[in-house]
Amino acid sequence: MNSRITEQLRNMELQKKIVSAAEAASWIEDGMTLGLSGFTRAGDAKAVPMALVDKAKDGPFKVNVYTGASLGSDIDKLMAEAGIIHKRLPFQADSSMRRKINEQELLFTDQHLSHVAEMVRSEVLNPIDFAIIEAVAITEEGEIIPSTSVGNSTIFLEKANSVIIELNLAQPAALEGMHDIYEPGEQGKRLPIALTSVDGHIGSTGMKVDLEKIKGIVLTNDLDSPSTIVPPDEDTATMANHLIEFLREEIRAGRLTNQLAPLQSGIGSVANAVLHGLLDSEFEELEVYSEVLQDAVFDLLDSGKVRFASGCSITLSQEKMQTVFPKLDQYKDQLVLRPQEISNHPEVIRRLGLISINTALEADIYGNVNSTHVCGTKMMNGIGGSGDFARNSRLAIFVTKSVAKNGDISSIVPFVSHVDHTEHDVDVLVTEQGYADLRGLAPVERARLIIENCMHPLYKEQMTAYFEEALARGGQTPHVLEKAFSWHLSYAETGTMLQSEPASLRK
Ligand code: COA
Repeated sequence: MNSRITEQLRNMELQKKIVSAAEAASWIEDGMTLGLSGFTRAGDAKAVPMALVDKAKDGPFKVNVYTGASLGSDIDKLMAEAGIIHKRLPFQADSSMRRKINEQELLFTDQHLSHVAEMVRSEVLNPIDFAIIEAVAITEEGEIIPSTSVGNSTIFLEKANSVIIELNLAQPAALEGMHDIYEPGEQGKRLPIALTSVDGHIGSTGMKVDLEKIKGIVLTNDLDSPSTIVPPDEDTATMANHLIEFLREEIRAGRLTNQLAPLQSGIGSVANAVLHGLLDSEFEELEVYSEVLQDAVFDLLDSGKVRFASGCSITLSQEKMQTVFPKLDQYKDQLVLRPQEISNHPEVIRRLGLISINTALEADIYGNVNSTHVCGTKMMNGIGGSGDFARNSRLAIFVTKSVAKNGDISSIVPFVSHVDHTEHDVDVLVTEQGYADLRGLAPVERARLIIENCMHPLYKEQMTAYFEEALARGGQTPHVLEKAFSWHLSYAETGTMLQSEPASLRK
């Protein structure tokens, strides 16, 4: 056995359990439920899922696939295309899988990321037949050291009937020591989660597992697939500036200092642009308490703007992987990776007083947000952690471009076509047009501010007409119910939400 393997696989008994991915896949049978490691393309089990896709060529079978969040290496795509998934939860972000979900060829449970572990622990979800978990090392005592994400691996290892470990020799060995694994225990019997600062450590560096359950160790040697983050464009940079202006107002009002408060930023190009915007800001000694640590977080660490970052995964572009991984050791005192149950835990989020920044597909004039369903029915990716954070943060900020599809869609509509975050959970809405601080406002005040500050000029008159007609009917939250979805219907029927050209733009 070569020395790299014995350095990373330090438990002698487990060294005898090395098998091929194909052999491990042969243990998986039709109808089983699998708990896979993986969170936003990072730390996913790679070889056994690929071998399962191959196995589908020998005959049809279906499994339930639970993960932390989305998978990389095209695994979601290939599993969906091979037709081997019966049910998938809690999050995905792949276009082929999205199509299969919307064509009703596979079931998808779109779930708050912090809820999955509770549901596995309390046995609400199907029992897990196999946990398939990527590790960067296994200690002498048999503790499993996760790689670039922790996700739901801790609870999958605890509750699964059998375990397969993918020991990935390509992942940086310096990841060992960067995790803080904490298992809260059963509801009703647990203690408070004693995390009182972003850089606190309350657990162990490895995950515990009953060694008897480990059926095989598969050796792998591929890095995670890189993130596909789009660099900031003019609109996302403008949004970042509006958001930074809002934060400056908070400082002027004495509610924040230059250090702000721990930041959470969601996936997507806007969230990444906002973090980039902080690079040139006057804010300092920042802290990040988020799920996904993207490229921008490392730029902020390198520039000294961020002093500490806590996450659940490290998801980087190809270029960033090449610069960050060889010097990962240097970040050891500035980084920690936690299970998603802890990174997204309401108790911790409320205690630390986070500023959370997530992306909406659409918002309505009263502040309800749809993050998941295109035109009300078609799944995009899923709610992910946005609800965990929005509901419990000090400041729940949602960002979205004011229009999509070249202006044919207004992202501000009379009534959202699907609700992920209610008007009660949305504090600030930001578009490239400006921001609306909704805190403490009554519904009609919110509507006026959103129309004025956030709507694209193309749709302002149309919305003002809707709002005035609604106001005339009265009510706490006025609507013209028979027209509330007329913008979506118009888009479906005519290809645009614009019902007539605004007078201000007529020649
Ligand atoms: N109606 C229909 N489509 C819309 C739309 C709307 N109101 N608003 C945007 N879109 C389309 C865009 O045109 C784009 O389409 P394309 O892929 O065909 O180009 C797509 O949605 C993505 O929009 P984009 O502006 O590029 O935003 P993004 O990459 O930042 O993603 C979300 C936005 C909402 C899809 C993404 O942030 C998400 O899935 N969020 C939910 C999960 C979450 O918030 N997690 C955070 C914690 S992990």
